Amino acid sequence: MEDIRNFCFIAHVDHGKSSLSSRILEITGNMGRENQIAALQTAKGEDDNNSFNTDNGQSQEASSKISKQREQISLLYDTLLHVIDTLSVEQERGITVKASTASLLYPHPSAVGEEGVLLLNMIDTPGHVDFGREVARSLSFVQGAILLLDATQGIQAQTWTVHERAKSMENPPELILAMTKIDLEAARPIDVALTVSEWLNHDDPDSIIPTSARSRIGIVELLDAVCTRVPPPKPLADDDGSIMRAQVVDSWYDERGVNCIVQILSGKLEEGDRLSIVAADSTDKQRQSYSIQEVGLVLPKSIRTSILQRGQMGYVRFGLKDPRQADPGTILIDSKNEGKEVIIPNRQNMDSTKSVLYASVHPEEEDGFEDLCEAVERLALNDKGLEVSKTADMGSNSSESGGPFLGPGLRVGFQGLLHVEVFRQRLTDEFGIDAVVTPPKVPYHLTFLPTKSNNITEPYTEVIEDLAEWPAYGTKFKVEEPMVGVRIMAPVEYTGAVMEVITKKRGLNLESTPLDEDTWIFEAQMPWAEVVVNFHDMLKNVTAGYGSLDTFEGNPSLMEAKLSKVDIQLNGESVGPLSFVSHTPNAQSEARIVCKKLQEVLPRQQFVVVIQAKADGKIIASERIRAYRKDVLTKSGKMVGGGDISRKKKLLEKQKKGKQRAQKGGKVTLSQAAFNSVISR
Ligand code: GTP
Repeated sequence: MEDIRNFCFIAHVDHGKSSLSSRILEITGNMGRENQIAALQTAKGEDDNNSFNTDNGQSQEASSKISKQREQISLLYDTLLHVIDTLSVEQERGITVKASTASLLYPHPSAVGEEGVLLLNMIDTPGHVDFGREVARSLSFVQGAILLLDATQGIQAQTWTVHERAKSMENPPELILAMTKIDLEAARPIDVALTVSEWLNHDDPDSIIPTSARSRIGIVELLDAVCTRVPPPKPLADDDGSIMRAQVVDSWYDERGVNCIVQILSGKLEEGDRLSIVAADSTDKQRQSYSIQEVGLVLPKSIRTSILQRGQMGYVRFGLKDPRQADPGTILIDSKNEGKEVIIPNRQNMDSTKSVLYASVHPEEEDGFEDLCEAVERLALNDKGLEVSKTADMGSNSSESGGPFLGPGLRVGFQGLLHVEVFRQRLTDEFGIDAVVTPPKVPYHLTFLPTKSNNITEPYTEVIEDLAEWPAYGTKFKVEEPMVGVRIMAPVEYTGAVMEVITKKRGLNLESTPLDEDTWIFEAQMPWAEVVVNFHDMLKNVTAGYGSLDTFEGNPSLMEAKLSKVDIQLNGESVGPLSFVSHTPNAQSEARIVCKKLQEVLPRQQFVVVIQAKADGKIIASERIRAYRKDVLTKSGKMVGGGDISRKKKLLEKQKKGKQRAQKGGKVTLSQAAFNSVISR
């Protein structure tokens, strides 16, 4: 345990985590001794040219450290390559590992073991707010976190959030502050360092490590900080080494079944032994036991080692078929010691985050429902923020049921709009499934009050996530909608425009503060439903792309509002999945936009398509799509019936009747573009 360091990266989206972790892999990774030494050499060479860091009087000491490291790496790789050679053919099977988790061997003076090598377990995390759950999950497995900032942008909206998340952990990780992209001309490392130390209560701006993944600057310094400042994981209080306990860090499903990345908390995990699963929320004493089939390290290529020791992170396969049994945070224990108490630090962070948006997902292919179900189930194993709440055989009245328009679908809860997009993309990229996702909805709280004309004796509240349950026009009820806190950072010149967008989207309690000379922070409470619809795009538009947005828990979490459900009808028939809720004063203008957009994106038919929007008992907007005009009077360029007038009339009459029939029973196919019309109103 002493020679182990568990750490992760946290940062605002696109601030360069993945690029920097790739560089770390390049230096420490499993890619051959020569390359590694070359990378290390380049890294050091570039560092010496970096004026931000040269006058600290460490360069001589640092370079003797580097040459010692080179020697150690060389020795290490002799050993490691030997291991790889002997294992490669039959043992290093193609196992798909999420690149986000890797173990690295790194020679360092702070190692206490004879080899002088530290095992670094590195967990990458996504930066976007929608994946906050993943960030919290990663933080719960580490003792150190590198908070990374883009040296051209400094603190951005999600920098706050991830920083606060790290600070609020039960056992907060050691925070290492670093900035990256300092190779860019627009980099302002000194300004960024000063702002960061002021706003994130970080005492010493000089200790923020400047790096560049592109120019390989500061990588060694960063690794050095991890090795010296991040403490090794603490052994479990009751650990005497005799009981194997491991925690699932990640899991995924492939053709060979469920694979888990685990962190060994005590004892050792060895092929041939048996283990049992202790689910995060289970008190079940009747646990099934499994034989451990394959165990190895992820360096970051998988290397079968047959055994994992305390503190190591690696993969394990034990014949598990049901992916849902291997959620991150799940504890594995050796079967002979089952029932021994398991004390896991930072356990509270494994709680599932409630979905904030719900949508239904339908296959584009008419008979693709089964394939879709299977793909979504597999995706849900990889993406813990997804909530697949119903494997729908939904009634045709439901807005989740496409009814005659979309066919059967799945109901899925998401963490935000980007999450929805990523989900759709992954269905296509990883499973070859094109899916239609209906516009996501927030859950509304409706309270029904007793009146003279209804049978209600006491007020009661219902939460509806499906607009088909919205009460009929004329019913008396009060609506509360979910609220969310938004934090926006934008350059000072866009202050007016940002405030206008927040107000337009019904933002409340707006506060603005200068962060530094160039940037302002805006905070407000907003209805979730408004943030979902187009808000991010509007913000990017009015700030020329410079505004960044993050969300936090709303206060209050619910707010009463005057809202109307807008039904969209095609040729008089309500299309549940296209309905939406608007703030009543905006219902008509939004309905007009949606009808207009639908007119543009719905395919033309043999018959006229009338698009109407209806709210509070009235039609409030309407558009028409003209029919294709089929020329029934000519055939192969010649006039049918030789120009006979009565024959012409007959043909036109026949065509008119045919169109009326088609219009009545006509089906309009709904594409993703149709649903996007509702999202971007
Ligand atoms: P998410 O995982 O999506 O949050 O992104 P990330 O934080 O992992 O950022 P990523 O590494 O994908 O980098 C974002 C962009 O910045 C990419 O276009 C990179 O090429 C660029 N980038 C990353 N590091 C550097 C750097 O050191 N210098 C320069 N010039 N560009 C960089």
